[in-house]
Amino acid sequence: MNKIAAITVLCLISLPTALWADSSRSLPRSYHSWQKSGRKVVTDKSSLFYGIHFIYADKKAMNGYRAGNRFAEGSSIIIEHFNIKEGSGSPVEGSKNMIVMMRKDKRMKTTGGWLFAGYGADGAPSGLDPVSTCFGCHQKDAAQKDYVISTINDFKK
Ligand code: HEC
Repeated sequence: MNKIAAITVLCLISLPTALWADSSRSLPRSYHSWQKSGRKVVTDKSSLFYGIHFIYADKKAMNGYRAGNRFAEGSSIIIEHFNIKEGSGSPVEGSKNMIVMMRKDKRMKTTGGWLFAGYGADGAPSGLDPVSTCFGCHQKDAAQKDYVISTINDFKK
């Protein structure tokens, strides 16, 4: 094979890989059909998680929770986060304000083998840096639990 042919072949092999790597960062469309956690309310205004959130886990992630937080490659977990509607007695969901995702991906060596990604309420990537924005907390709180802080108990309603 001559040089040009070899380069062409290499490009044809690496192009779909590059496209795939990029699409793996986008928010899966079907996550509303995944297993949903109970409703989690944080009323402490000083907390980053002030508001109401729900966790969604796909089948692989549910198996990982059941195994005591040991997750297989590809396991995906998403949180939808809502504001609290002002003026209501007991906390009621207001508008959605952010979505975050973790997907087990062994290429993500600097973040414990997980892809961390943040999105706006509309599902568009918010471009947060996973290492400085996300991983610190998960490493501190859950290094012994495969970096996943929630547990199977969050799905027992
Ligand atoms: C201030 C600390 C902190 C930071 C920063 C943080 N997280 Fe979390 N994260 C948590 C806590 C605490 C939970 C558990 C919430 C619960 O149990 O309901 C959590 C849960 C999650 C979950 C559900 C799986 C799990 O670990 O329980 C995902 C997905 C997630 N975070 C993604 C992200 C992403 C993406 C970022 C960066 C954009 C991020 N997190 C930044 C503290 C943090």
